[in-house]
Amino acid sequence: MKNTRLINGNHIDLGVCYYPEHWDKSLWAEDLDRMLAAGLKTVRIAEFAWSLIEPGEGQYTYEFFDEFLDLALKKGMQVIFCTPTATPPAWLTEKYPEVLNADMEGHLIRHGARRHYNYNSPVYQEFCKKIVEKSAAHYAGHPAVVGWQLDNEFNCENDRFYSESDTIAFRKFLKEKYGALETLNLAWGTVFWNQTYTDWAQIHVPRKTNSGSPNPHMMLDYFRFISDSVCRFARMQADILRKYCKEGDFITTNGMFANIDYQRMGRESLDVLMYDSYPNFSYCPDNYDAGDILKDRRSSRSLAELRAVSPTFGIMEQQSGANGWNTSMDAPTPRPGQITLWTMQSIAHGADYISYFRWRTCTFGTEIYWHGILDYSGRDNRRLREVREIFDKIAKMQELAGSLYRAKVGILRDYDNIWDTQLDKWHRRVDTVSQESLFTALQLAHVPFDYVYLENHDTLESLSQYQVLFYPHASILTPERARLLEQYVAAGGQLVMGCRTGYKDINGKCVMEYLPGVVRELTGTDVPEYSLAAPDEVPIMAEWDDVRFESAAFNELLAPLGEQSQVLATYTSGCYKDAPALICNSFGRGKAYYFGGAFAADAAKVFLEKLGISEPYSDVIRLPQSCELTVREKDNSKYLFVLNYLAQPAEIVLHVPMQDIWTSETLSGPRTLEGYGVGIYKL
Ligand code: GAL
Repeated sequence: MKNTRLINGNHIDLGVCYYPEHWDKSLWAEDLDRMLAAGLKTVRIAEFAWSLIEPGEGQYTYEFFDEFLDLALKKGMQVIFCTPTATPPAWLTEKYPEVLNADMEGHLIRHGARRHYNYNSPVYQEFCKKIVEKSAAHYAGHPAVVGWQLDNEFNCENDRFYSESDTIAFRKFLKEKYGALETLNLAWGTVFWNQTYTDWAQIHVPRKTNSGSPNPHMMLDYFRFISDSVCRFARMQADILRKYCKEGDFITTNGMFANIDYQRMGRESLDVLMYDSYPNFSYCPDNYDAGDILKDRRSSRSLAELRAVSPTFGIMEQQSGANGWNTSMDAPTPRPGQITLWTMQSIAHGADYISYFRWRTCTFGTEIYWHGILDYSGRDNRRLREVREIFDKIAKMQELAGSLYRAKVGILRDYDNIWDTQLDKWHRRVDTVSQESLFTALQLAHVPFDYVYLENHDTLESLSQYQVLFYPHASILTPERARLLEQYVAAGGQLVMGCRTGYKDINGKCVMEYLPGVVRELTGTDVPEYSLAAPDEVPIMAEWDDVRFESAAFNELLAPLGEQSQVLATYTSGCYKDAPALICNSFGRGKAYYFGGAFAADAAKVFLEKLGISEPYSDVIRLPQSCELTVREKDNSKYLFVLNYLAQPAEIVLHVPMQDIWTSETLSGPRTLEGYGVGIYKL
């Protein structure tokens, strides 16, 4: 871990998002004093404040933030400064409309909200280079500044780009990738429906097509192109900042949004990735699902995704008030204890820095209902008191800093397949079910797990720490990735794959091999026939020993290949009734499991139980399903986080003596966690 002034493995810190430009300057000093008194020692500023640095083209002025930074320094407040590129000013977009993004019909997305720009406009890139260079040259040396945030939430609100500049850049991206048009035509299968291109100028970013069905292989490249555009844009800024950053200053951005390869962005441009965590989205009336057992606990899925990029990370915006725009997304105010619960949820997953969104609630604009710690009046309130209490709690848990979340189970992911599901209906159908079920089952069975991103340069080492890996529906599978999976299993790993594996190549074209293609030998499985689950046959059931579970969404007929291949489950209904539904192949020292459906909730649970990975900490702790368990480890100590997401108390049992991190008492036996309560126990 780089030795930065925040997130350096030595301490856990709190901060807050602040908008000096929203308030009368007479409030600044008092605000900073009150933040510091509440334990908030870092502020993030300036991400939407371009006009305060460049109020007119080429006119740079630094007084406003100089004044704020000097005050921050005087008060002892650290500052994360942002590049302001998420909101280009009106003078810029009016004079150079080419910097704007467009919708698919080519209508420009106009000034007036935010993120209205496109990444590929050479004019915009020049303006951004200049404002980043000017800001960095002027502010990076300031002793109050400890780090930089690039832009704000790349791809938030809009993750598709259709401007003229995007089309030009898309052609360049494709030329670099394919070299010759013939190669592109082949990769995209353009002979189908006479889509063949004879000139690069005929290629565009997606446009309106009949029945909304563009060429799928083009779409896969388009998503790759968007990611490439964001990563290049981030890197352009990071390269400039690095020239000016002081020793120990860091570069970050706040995620996580679609069509971005964060692993690449992390490698190229970031010291650490941060996340904006708003667990109460699940309580917006439009999203609310009374039957959803997880609700705000679902944020743990995003936190696990974040950890796949930054094992130790920060939360740039942690919910501290009701969320809501005046036009959408309205949720209730956090109940007493919930700010603490969500803060600890983030820390439980690996956060060493938590910055609340925001200090005061804005009294104007779209976000008047997106509350911060303080309401409009700024009076002391119970949320501020809770934040102060969190600070006191964190003071007692500093030994956890730099500890790492530990998991023996992983879910393999890769961007080719993630992006393929955005267009491909079958792939999306099976993947949505399985990702949801696996996450839920792992949560409810208290199994810490990681998302593990397969990248092209991955080696066995990155996988071998996992006892079990799920790779639910790797439709796109390359020979290189298949070899890596073989190495993992041969070395003793257990790999679980589901239907629709291995039937596409890297361009998303179907292979002509016997399925599951490149993992046929590894899985010891042949798939002679398949069908979408017929609506009049669902739920299609399978049986493993005496346990029945659903084979969801899709239905593959399986046959074992070779002596090492054993049928573990058979279908008990559907058109392949009595045929194998699950095959286990012994391969080297490990086992590969191939299942002919998608993992429904009950199936996911059965797999965890049968593979012996349910409740891995049951010898030391018992807790109800409604509580989440995570484990961070450092220096031979384990820190068990127990998070109760319900308003009602939860009964837990500590089977062995453990130290309560906040009271230092050694505890064992039955305990009651209050509603929204958190326990952190050292083992
Ligand atoms: C985040 C964003 C903030 C603020 C907040 C509430 O997505 O980064 O600027 O808009 O949501 O809407």
